[in-house]
Amino acid sequence: MDNGPCDQSSLFPADFAWGVATSSHQVEGGNTNNQWAAWEKRGKIKSKDCVGLACDWWRNAEQDFDLAQSLGVNALRLSVEWSRIEPEEGMWDEAALARYRQMLKALHQRGMRPFVTLHHFTNPLWFEAKGAFLAPESIALFQGFTQRVIAALGDLCRDWITFNEPNVYASLGYFLGEFPPGKKGRFVQAARVTRNLCLAHAEAYRTIHALQKDANVGWAQHYVVFKPRRPESAVDRWLCGFIDRRFNDNFAESIRDGRAPFPLNKLGQSLPEVKDTCDFVGINYYSRLRVGFEPRSLKTLFLQISVPPHKPQGDSGIEVPYGEVYPEGLRRAVEQFTAFKRPVYILENGVPDRADRIRPWVIESTISQMRGLLAEGVDLRGYFHWTLTDNFEWAEGWHLRFGLFELDPATQARTPRPSARLYARLIKEAGALVRTAG
Ligand code: FCB
Repeated sequence: MDNGPCDQSSLFPADFAWGVATSSHQVEGGNTNNQWAAWEKRGKIKSKDCVGLACDWWRNAEQDFDLAQSLGVNALRLSVEWSRIEPEEGMWDEAALARYRQMLKALHQRGMRPFVTLHHFTNPLWFEAKGAFLAPESIALFQGFTQRVIAALGDLCRDWITFNEPNVYASLGYFLGEFPPGKKGRFVQAARVTRNLCLAHAEAYRTIHALQKDANVGWAQHYVVFKPRRPESAVDRWLCGFIDRRFNDNFAESIRDGRAPFPLNKLGQSLPEVKDTCDFVGINYYSRLRVGFEPRSLKTLFLQISVPPHKPQGDSGIEVPYGEVYPEGLRRAVEQFTAFKRPVYILENGVPDRADRIRPWVIESTISQMRGLLAEGVDLRGYFHWTLTDNFEWAEGWHLRFGLFELDPATQARTPRPSARLYARLIKEAGALVRTAG
């Protein structure tokens, strides 16, 4: 474990983006028009929690922007909720766009650079009913949405993330069944979804650049360090290598090489039109997992994921452990994407840790890893901690707590965890430049 103090401030460029990351469904509250609200209604949240008001951002994101400002961050990542902006196909809600304009202005007023995600797991109900990203028309529909958002918000933001974790969206929704639409073992469907996400991303990339010349556009890639459960087992090693390539590189390799996602590439498909459609590489990095062959896990193609109990871990998920905390893995994540030759942003990193047992160590060690990478000349431009206040953690509901601030969803009271003070101090020591109100 690396506990070294983070005092080599000069290594961080003054305009390094120090931020916190969030997503619309997890923080806004009061929206029943997306597939996650429907999933919750069907009793699919493992904790049986309701998203309810979430962190009440739709009415009052500004109270959390104040908290973020008190930490000294100069950037904040949020997402826009498609189901609010286009509640029915072709029907645009100007009031929703106006609310997002208000939020982005509020960030600028507090010296924070907004990073806006266009799609963070949620789909409007009408879009889900059409088959979501399995449907070929999803690409044009997402393009229409993108155009509308950039036209409305483009003067207030230039950093755009098209999709959050396309690899998680496809594998949890169509292979592991943990996310809506809850399909299990649909390997080919997951690949088709990934292909359409690549095409939708590339279209969005071009649309944004057509409307905004100096836009900075990428996506957020979830990266997991995989290790064979029994390194002496050839089967575990093979499975581990397979999962590593399929999960960590499936979307990325299409953007890098114009290749269709496996197994569609084996069927002769390619995607030359998506090649090089990114201005930066965005990485979400949390954990390391062991991969083993398990003959009883038929539905997940004999794959079993585990975490050795003696390894550092945050709180466990309701059914499965969240993962080993392994800050050194950040280097592997960054190295995985060096072939892109693009600036790198860590768009998410954090740990579920209600009692703040290991979060301080996670933050310090991760920042120390970043210092090492910067010293070696890696073009690292930003770090976003997930997250500011506890929020609604998808299928885990309120069970997993990732916040620098503890949130009581019933009273909406916020209480800083020790990590909040620590993160503020480290940002200050790194010499973060907070821009004046614009
Ligand atoms: C990431 C998601 C984010 C949040 C964190 C804990 O995979 O992008 O919404 O759930 O995990």
